[in-house]
Amino acid sequence: MPQITYVEYDGTVHDVASPAGISLMEAAAMHKVPRIEGDRGGFCACGTCHCYLDPADAPRLPAMHDLERATLDFAHDVNDRSRLACQIPVTAAMDGMIVRLPARQY
Ligand code: FES
Repeated sequence: MPQITYVEYDGTVHDVASPAGISLMEAAAMHKVPRIEGDRGGFCACGTCHCYLDPADAPRLPAMHDLERATLDFAHDVNDRSRLACQIPVTAAMDGMIVRLPARQY
């Protein structure tokens, strides 16, 4: 089972084991990781699963689609590392990946 590390804005670390196939948002919710809310259930409609991913991890991530890019407009503190965790399915290739969380979500 892939191990994913979520790091809150204050540096608090949550190491979780996630089944492949669920989203990074669902994996966080399953393990009660705070500050990754997923208010609209993972349908790319709210921006409350905003997270930051290292550009070096891009080869093991799906490309960002137009709806994800548009929904990020609803998130705070967006930068070039921003993604929506509900749009990223966990895969075996993501074992050891770090997901950083913003200071606030809507
Ligand atoms: S859960 Fe709403 S955009 Fe991801």
